[in-house]
Amino acid sequence: MENKLTLRDAKVRNQIVLVRTDYNVPLQDGQVASDFRIRASLPTINYLLEHGAKKIVLISHLGRPEGKRVKELSLKPVALKLAELLPGVPVDFVDDVSGPDVEDAVSHLKNGGVLLLENLRFYPGEEKNDEDFIREIIDSTSASVYVQDGFAVIHRAHASTSAVSKNLPVYAGLLLEKEINALSRVMESPERPFMLMLGGAKVDDKAPLIEVFKNKADAICIGGKIATDGAVAPADNIYIAEDFDEDSEGNKLDCGPVSTAHFVETAKTSKTVVWNGLLGKAEDIAFATSSTIFLKTLGESPEITSIILGGDTTAFAEEAIEKDNSLKFSLLSTGGGAALEFLGGNSLPGLEVIENK
Ligand code: 3PG
Repeated sequence: MENKLTLRDAKVRNQIVLVRTDYNVPLQDGQVASDFRIRASLPTINYLLEHGAKKIVLISHLGRPEGKRVKELSLKPVALKLAELLPGVPVDFVDDVSGPDVEDAVSHLKNGGVLLLENLRFYPGEEKNDEDFIREIIDSTSASVYVQDGFAVIHRAHASTSAVSKNLPVYAGLLLEKEINALSRVMESPERPFMLMLGGAKVDDKAPLIEVFKNKADAICIGGKIATDGAVAPADNIYIAEDFDEDSEGNKLDCGPVSTAHFVETAKTSKTVVWNGLLGKAEDIAFATSSTIFLKTLGESPEITSIILGGDTTAFAEEAIEKDNSLKFSLLSTGGGAALEFLGGNSLPGLEVIENK
């Protein structure tokens, strides 16, 4: 990261700056359920305000609407949360990403203000890595500086992470820089035994990563949806949850006591534990048991270097810390898939396009 262009190398005074954030946050009843990723974006926003940026335009995706407008996945609730977190700063929202409404919203935004555009993934161009799609956003906002601060999405080759570099130079934001530096430090030579705990629902993304970590981790434990759908091939150092708590229809929604005990035992004999993905449907308290027990094990074991990755898992950890501030973790990262790809040594399209100094 030392060699890459960062925000500190950019001339931002009096400029309109476009910042790619990752506001893919959990929502509940139309409101932001965890603001961890939003708070993580504040250092870059504050840096820009302090260094005289004229206007700040933020872009992000939320969920996987697959190129269509999905009302429930609007970024509007994020703008409301952002306004709460930035008292005294004008924060506006516009429900488009380019065209006349965006041009209008930018021109009406007060100097020193922040404008959040609508969900990038409402438009097919984002995931198609379409150069024209991102150019239209740049043109409509009149941005002259582009900052990549969406660490959690830099493993995707999308218009706002990859093709954008054909239009403007890309500078790393402060969150991106911090995440890469922190993960590099921890993983330079992880203390062994090194355990990877994987859960969550993004089966297609995670199954290939298991192959990558098979030779790096001493033990890999699998819970969550990937454990139930047979996507992982057994191996000597891979343990797949073997018992489950079910709902009345027989859906396996949490790991059972035998599997949970195995996860805990493996963690207790490890020096480094990387955890991404909840072990059950933890948003439902009835199916949060295995995740809660595993989290407590890490939070109460200062001898284990514990690295918690991803939006849902860090939100779960933060909620537990709020209730019990004696729980301590070595690192909470906004990145899930991105952090795993980075730790696995894979190249990240969103990082590749940031030029060296
Ligand atoms: C994440 O939450 O891991 C990032 O926001 C990326 O989301 P995606 O897996 O839908 O691309």
